[in-house]
Order: sequence, then structure tokens, then C-alpha cells
Amino acid sequence: MKFSQFAFLLLFFLAGVRTPYAKAEGIQIIPKPNHFRLEKGHFTIPGELTVSTVVSGFEAIIPVFCRQLSTYSDFSCTKTSGSAQIRLAHSDSIRDSESYQLKITPKDIVVVANEPAGAFYGLQSLLQLIVNADEGMIPCSFIVDQPRYSWRGIMLDESRHFFGIEQVKQLLDYMALHKLNKFHWHLTDVPGWRIEIKKYPKLTTVGGIGNDHDPKAEARYYTQEEISTVVEYARERFIEIIPEIDMPGHAAAANRAYPEFSGGGSERYPEFTFHPGKEGTYQYLTDILREVSGLFPSEYIHIGGDEVHFGNHQWKTDPDVQKLMKTERLNHLKQVEQYFIRRMADSVARLGKKVIGWDEVIGSGIDVHSTLVMWWRHDKPYLLDSAIENGYELVMCPRIPLYFDFDQHDSHAYGRRWGGEFCDIEKVYDFPFGNIDGDHDKVIGMQANVWTERIQNDKRLDFMTFPRLSAMAEAAWSYGKMKSYPEFLERLKKMIGCYDRDGIYYFDPFDVHSHPEPGGIKK
Ligand code: ACM
Repeated sequence: MKFSQFAFLLLFFLAGVRTPYAKAEGIQIIPKPNHFRLEKGHFTIPGELTVSTVVSGFEAIIPVFCRQLSTYSDFSCTKTSGSAQIRLAHSDSIRDSESYQLKITPKDIVVVANEPAGAFYGLQSLLQLIVNADEGMIPCSFIVDQPRYSWRGIMLDESRHFFGIEQVKQLLDYMALHKLNKFHWHLTDVPGWRIEIKKYPKLTTVGGIGNDHDPKAEARYYTQEEISTVVEYARERFIEIIPEIDMPGHAAAANRAYPEFSGGGSERYPEFTFHPGKEGTYQYLTDILREVSGLFPSEYIHIGGDEVHFGNHQWKTDPDVQKLMKTERLNHLKQVEQYFIRRMADSVARLGKKVIGWDEVIGSGIDVHSTLVMWWRHDKPYLLDSAIENGYELVMCPRIPLYFDFDQHDSHAYGRRWGGEFCDIEKVYDFPFGNIDGDHDKVIGMQANVWTERIQNDKRLDFMTFPRLSAMAEAAWSYGKMKSYPEFLERLKKMIGCYDRDGIYYFDPFDVHSHPEPGGIKK
């Protein structure tokens, strides 16, 4: 336990808590707060709420909260400089930047935090209490809350299918409401390249054509201006966006645009790789990453590194790759791949950023202090230990249960399965489980990955994302000992009210036939 958590708890106990693990009745919040106490009485919500703060860093949060309030409820609020029903206050005794206290009395409501993110999360908890209020009243309570993990992420693959700004904003809205804070944007892959790069315009005008079910679909991509709009929208909601430019594999869309940098592919995966034996490739990709780096304030750039063996066959005979292997003393193709990753990690470092790679980058020799590994191969659990032994920080996103392109119910037919296994809501909720050491210091969080080979439209994207996003958020925020699946389901019923109000086409675990699975693409 960190000192700040200890201080929090001490305060909490001194304040007379009976049990910090009270039942969640009355605390209609997902993710469940880690410490709370219900008190006597209620706060009656007036038609128009007022919110104030004298903390300059907290001011910008209020308009976002007021917009959320009028979206998800029939109440509204305004910012005021005078006395208000909701007050945002600062305390530097709260150390963790995402922690907050929320005190609700019959008279008023106070959110206390050290940093804007904490104040924002206090308001997210309050927002849910208001949205779920019975007859306009919310129970008096005292909440002292902080996250289990600092990395609480969702990845969206927009290469396989492109969804566009409105759908991404909706996802960011729900991430914010659930205190999820990292949006990993998978923008390049085999079917399409989705981010404008000014120095290489054909990446989008040519590489942006097509998607996973229609190679001729008109070019869809984000301009740099649109990217900046989304980044700002996320920033206002305390979500960091991490772009992924996948390399050296999954490069076919880029290679259609600039074949001179292709390293070839295989029969099943043509033109799959960037060319590791040409110096020009490293310059080209560094130029791309420079533009990407300028667009995203995140401290990270994700460079992929997964499944290179799907299409590195031509490296075996390519004269430039053979020459590289001789001069760099690389004995086999895995070492060529690792050399490539080291070169590009150097470029990322020179841009002043840290690297993220899929778990294939373990063993490549890239700097452990400036690299984050994403463990995804659930069938290779030893890779989690291996990342830790090598000294890497790690985010857990194993296929089972955190790939949201997998089915979530046995009656579903269009999602993926692995040996018959799929990712039902309860499994998502229970993660991390079994022998997975989710409490190791190096494990900084977890992430759900929404791959979209089998998600070809907005309706199916909603269906595959909700309500698993709610379950995942609680797994990432709430301590294991706070979790109870049956009790989570009770709170989920209320959250579903938000989905309904917002027109989301979710999977309904309480009535599996009410929202039939939207037809997908059989693979
Ligand atoms: C992956 O699923 N290829 C990271």
C-alpha cells in the first residue's frame, strides 16, 4: 500500500467508518468505489444545480460535467463563482493524482482532490449517483476512492473497419464515465491506413482505401485536424490517446501506397512487412513517427511488433536483408525483427517518447525503462512473467477475457472463440484470475482490445463493447476484495438506463433476446 493510500484510510477510519466494504446498495456507481460509507439522510437534487471552485485547475472540468449531466439525466447545472450546492476543493494530502473524496450531506456536496483528474473522477461518481437517483434524492455518503491500476485502457482497431469521429467520441464518453483513462488507437494494419501523414499523402489516399470485407471501399481516414479534435476531446475527459503504428508486420496498407519500402509477405499475407534491409525504410518510418508524435501529447508511441512471422518469408532470400544479417551478425529472422524493433525504438526515444510493443518485443533488447509491454497471448502465460523478469512494465490484455471481438454469450455466432472459449461478461469482470499476478509492481494495468475484423458497423461495435466495457472498468479500478459479480449486475441494470437513453445497441445479459446479435462477418 502506498503512503497516500494509507493516509487516506487512516482518515477514513478516524472519521468513524463502520465497515469500508459496505454493500453497494445506494452506491450506484460503476466502477465501485474502493471505500465508502452510507450516512443518514438524502440530498435532494434541485432542477438546476450550481457548481463552484476556487481552484483554477479544476474550473475547466465543470462545463464537461454539466454537459454530461444534461445528456444522461433530466437535471442541469451551471458554474457559479458564489456559493454552490457542489463545491470542488483542493487538498494536497491526497497524493494520488486520480484519487478523490466525495462528501454528500443533506445541505451540499463537496469533491476534494489534489489534481484535476481526481476532481473529475469525483464528479463522475456524483454524476452516476444523480443519474440513478430515486425520486430526485441521492443518499448522504462519504466516498474515499482511488484506482487499483493506473492504466485502464480500451483499444479500438479502425484499420479493419473505420467508425469515425462520432463513434470514437461516444466511446470516449463512456470511458470517461467509467474512469477509463487510456485510449489505444490502432490506426494502421493490413486493410487500411487511417491517419494522414503530410509527408506521405498516399498513405491515406491509397492506403486508406478498403476495409476488411471490401478492399475497394472508399478511402476512410482521419485528417491531422480531426485527430487533434479527438485528442482534445479526450484530454478534457482525462483520457490519454496512444497511437499505434504497427511495424514491421501488418504493413500491407502502407505498402500499397509506397511499395518501395515493402519487405514482402507470404501467400496468405502478401506485402505484410516493412523492409528491414533498406536504410530508407527507417528514415521513412521515423518521418511518419515524427508527425504522429507531434499530434499526440501522450508520452508513448505504440510500434506494434506483433505476428511478424506471418509474412517475413521473403526476408530469407532478399539480398538486402541477407547483407544486413551479415553486417549485423543476425543469425535468424527473429533477430532481424528484433534489430528492426531496436532501430525504431531508438527513433521513438529521439522523439522524446517511450515505446509500447506487443509481447513479441520481449527479448528484443529495447530499453526496459522506456518501454511498456502489452501481454496479449493468453495461451502463453509465461510471457507475463518473462516481461517482468526482463524488467519491463506491463499492461495485461490477454485474448481471453479481454479481446472484445470474441463472443460474449454462448448464443452468439459471429465473434471469435479460442478452442471454444469466449469472453463472457463475468470472465471480464473477474480478471485478473488464476495464476496471473495482477498485483506485481510491474503490472500497471489492463486493457480491453476491440479488434474489428468481425465488427463491420456501429451497431455491432456497440454490441461487442457494451456492457463488457462496464465490467472491464470495475476490474481495472476496484480492488479484488471489493468485487462481487451478482452485486455488480444489480448496478449494471442502472447503467443500462444510460445506454438506453443514449441509443446504444448493447448486449443485454438480463434478457438475451431483447437485443439480438447483429449479423456479422463469418470468418
Ligand atoms: C494481436 O492481437 N495481434 C496483438
